[in-house]
Amino acid sequence: MKKLEILVVEDGKSQREMLRDFLAKEGYMVREAASGEEALDEVRAHYFDVVLLDYKMPGMDGMQVLKEVKRINQEIDVVIITAYGTIETAVEAMKAGALDYITKPVDFEELTLLLDRVQERRVLIRENELLRQELRAKGVTTDQIVYRSAVMESIVNMVSRVAPSKATILLQGESGTGKELFARLIHQISPRSSRPMLTVNCGALNENLLESELFGHERGAFTGAVTRRIGRVEEADGGTLFLDEVGDLPLSIQVKLLRFLQDREFQRLGGNQTLFADVRIVSATNRDLEKMVKEGKFREDLYYRLNVVNIKIPPLRERKEDIPPLIDHFVEKYARENGKEVVGLSGEARDLLLKYDYPGNVRELENIIERAVVIARDEFISVEDLPFGEGTWFLEQEERKSDGLLKNTIEELEKKMILEAMVKASHNQTRAAEILGISERMLRYKLKKYNLKGF
Ligand SMILES: Nc1ncnc2c1ncn2[C@@H]1O[C@H](COP(=O)(O)OP(=O)(O)OP(=O)(O)O)[C@@H](O)[C@H]1O
Ligand SMILES: [Mg+2]
Repeated sequence: MKKLEILVVEDGKSQREMLRDFLAKEGYMVREAASGEEALDEVRAHYFDVVLLDYKMPGMDGMQVLKEVKRINQEIDVVIITAYGTIETAVEAMKAGALDYITKPVDFEELTLLLDRVQERRVLIRENELLRQELRAKGVTTDQIVYRSAVMESIVNMVSRVAPSKATILLQGESGTGKELFARLIHQISPRSSRPMLTVNCGALNENLLESELFGHERGAFTGAVTRRIGRVEEADGGTLFLDEVGDLPLSIQVKLLRFLQDREFQRLGGNQTLFADVRIVSATNRDLEKMVKEGKFREDLYYRLNVVNIKIPPLRERKEDIPPLIDHFVEKYARENGKEVVGLSGEARDLLLKYDYPGNVRELENIIERAVVIARDEFISVEDLPFGEGTWFLEQEERKSDGLLKNTIEELEKKMILEAMVKASHNQTRAAEILGISERMLRYKLKKYNLKGF
């Protein structure tokens, strides 16, 4: 089993070196830091499983360091070293995310036991994560992809046709259009569904870590790589590898990925053995890869390899027919999840949602509905339950459309004032007309002119 990678943070030189030597002798990979600031530099630059943190040091205090470490990488387990008799600090630290604590002077046997527990826990979490990923992937069926538009129908058909093959698939679409949902569907209806689908987010890691995440590394591959690590490519053998945000792949790694796609061969970072893995690649991006190819930011040969089947998911505003069934789907889902009796939307609320243009696509619609279901007071979601009054996203969106022409700008302003008045007046036209200082007849005329009848 792989030994933990540990950072020892302790200002006392002799104590720090004693800990370091003991842990190294036990086979752990150890690095050290003499202050909070140094510790944070280390955590930013290297991978660690565990930070052993002396809580009381000059300079940054333990709590600050703890919070910052967790902010940089939430998955690091922080173990506090605290003076005997200061259990309150330990409790406080654990509330802030520390995993455990050990008292000074450190008893090596106690420390070993503690680290064994940490290790077991990490293995368990990892296994559960894989299991959950698999289950989640299997749970996805075509009924979970909700649509009514012809364009989505043809995409679903296409996906069903190509999923069983081993062809690479590139999913393109704006953020929140459902690329990941489709990736899971592809895996689930492929003959590989009994093997895992693993995801690598190509935008989230720096070059070194990304390469090691993909292909793994050998012991000693770079400073800090004291143990061998198996990459996702190897782990996904027989299954599917989902490369999310593939447009963010650094050029150096593009070369290695290309080689892998060409002959299924790869090497672990720092290794000289050539390995093989049978992996189906599905990738996704919200960037314009073709343009990136023209600009020399993405290798053309790799682009063609990834793009054997190309699926472009249109933004939600270009397939508004999908909005009503999606609304119904999310209302049902979140009513069930939250134990609420909500069954639908008022006519006005529904109209409003149909008019919106969703820069965040389906994810945004889903968030809006989730929030509305949670705050709704009766069985129908009303306009007040939509993020409309306070956030005025709808109004902001109207603003964005303004094109600089005086006539249009004045019209937009008028429209905006009318919308605001209608919201303030809870859709009572008489009151809204009063607020605006115009006759009710004039208001009705303008509502019609601006196609705001739903309000
Ligand atoms: N057609 C759909 N039917 C049901 N749910 C959908 C549909 N499309 C998207 N969703 C839901 O919308 C949310 C966003 O989808 P997903 O994460 O797949 O988007 P994405 O394209 O990968 O976005 P990003 O580029 O930001 O990663 C998810 O909760 C997903 O389940
Ligand atoms: Mg995604």
